Amino acid sequence: MEKLISNSENETKLIGKEFASKLKKGDVVVLTGDLGSGKTKFTEGVLQFFGLDSEISSPTFNIVNEYSNNNVTIYHFDVYRLEDEDEFYAIGGEEYFENGICLIEWGEMIEHALPSKYIHITFSRNLNDENRREILIED
Ligand SMILES: Nc1ncnc2c1ncn2[C@@H]1O[C@H](COP(=O)(O)OP(=O)(O)OP(=O)(O)O)[C@@H](O)[C@H]1O
Ligand SMILES: [Mg+2]
Repeated sequence: MEKLISNSENETKLIGKEFASKLKKGDVVVLTGDLGSGKTKFTEGVLQFFGLDSEISSPTFNIVNEYSNNNVTIYHFDVYRLEDEDEFYAIGGEEYFENGICLIEWGEMIEHALPSKYIHITFSRNLNDENRREILIED
């Protein structure tokens, strides 16, 4: 378990970029935290590490966006709008797990559809400082 503090959007991206160096195909990362807590900014850092887009579109309307190059495929999910696990199965969600690296915003909402092993990252805001985030990494 690792607890990190970020004081800016850019710091969160850097934390994501550094974290990404230990990821490999088949890894699933669940990103938990309130709206605006930094889950997508963190994901941008992960994509930067792999030389993929640095400014990504929020997948909120797509459920999943795919980014790939010759070395890696990243699937970026936002499952906030899914009703339950059944909707995740219906879009073939599980089939993504083995085929690349999955980052799943709001993944705790589909807990039962997740593989037995995944990395869980929790983002918390601070009431007194709008740019401060606590980032807890559990794997
Ligand atoms: N330390 C910080 N880390 C990350 N984002 C920050 C930080 N401080 C301020 N922000 C701002 O907070 C917002 C984070 O947005 P982001 O889209 O990453 O949130 P999110 O967790 O993905 O939300 P959602 O659940 O709506 O998808 C951005 O507007 C960003 O500029
Ligand atoms: Mg987001």
